[in-house]
Amino acid sequence: MPRPYVLLSVATSIDGHIDDTSPDRLLLSNSADFDRVDQVRAESDAILIGAGTMRADNPRLLVNSEERRAARVAAGKPEYPLKATISASGDLDPELKFWHFGGEKVAYTTDSGAEKLRDRLEGLADVVSLGETVNFGRLLDDLGGRGVKQLMVEGGGSIHTAFLSQGLADEIHMAIAPLVVGQADAPSFLSPAIYPGGSTHRMKLAEARTIGDVVLLRYLPKQESGQ
Ligand SMILES: NC(=O)c1ccc[n+]([C@@H]2O[C@H](COP(=O)([O-])OP(=O)(O)OC[C@H]3O[C@@H](n4cnc5c(N)ncnc54)[C@H](OP(=O)(O)O)[C@@H]3O)[C@@H](O)[C@H]2O)c1
Repeated sequence: MPRPYVLLSVATSIDGHIDDTSPDRLLLSNSADFDRVDQVRAESDAILIGAGTMRADNPRLLVNSEERRAARVAAGKPEYPLKATISASGDLDPELKFWHFGGEKVAYTTDSGAEKLRDRLEGLADVVSLGETVNFGRLLDDLGGRGVKQLMVEGGGSIHTAFLSQGLADEIHMAIAPLVVGQADAPSFLSPAIYPGGSTHRMKLAEARTIGDVVLLRYLPKQESGQ
């Protein structure tokens, strides 16, 4: 089965941070932009977040609009996209909201992580080992085998860094919010890594759109900028 089209979705501050260092989640998007994200979720077959985001934010990760869920069902799709997460360690609490809302779920992990998670997530999610370490290509092969054509990756920074640096991202949706976090140790969209094409590779800009006080940039990292 073909691998899914991979879309990285992120909201950042002006200084490139995706959260601050406080225990509460920093809301970067405005309500119209959160609604846009809901639409992209509804258009995707699977949504993925990393274990760090699950532990930090404890999100439900749903399509919130009833109309969008009804449209999915009318189109013969499940009401909710498949929800996926990645944890190398297997340190995921079965009480997290992720497991208790929405439709089907899958936890990608390692051989050792799977030993911890199989009992813990019994009846809550499929547990899939990707080998001794997390192999992102194998993860995409597994999702393709489940019929996933579009995967929306909603962070956090480690997960975005892995997909982009391994040349596995087809599209980036980057919403820039008019905030400055100003904390060196706040999480960032991307970490230092070797990215395809290096620092001179200019990605194709597919769209720039204002959404209230937020700007959405859509980049196609596998395509070269025309200028
Ligand atoms: N603004 C936004 O759009 C947005 C969206 C999402 C999240 N966030 C923020 O992002 C922050 C969390 O980011 P994060 O980077 O700490 O966490 P993350 O990317 O969500 O998840 C990191 C975890 O995923 C697993 N993982 C990631 N890369 C891996 C790799 N290459 N190989 C194996 N396992 C890997 C590991 O799990 P184990 O430790 O279990 O092994 C790792 O600890 C939070 O502050 C959250 O609020 C912001």
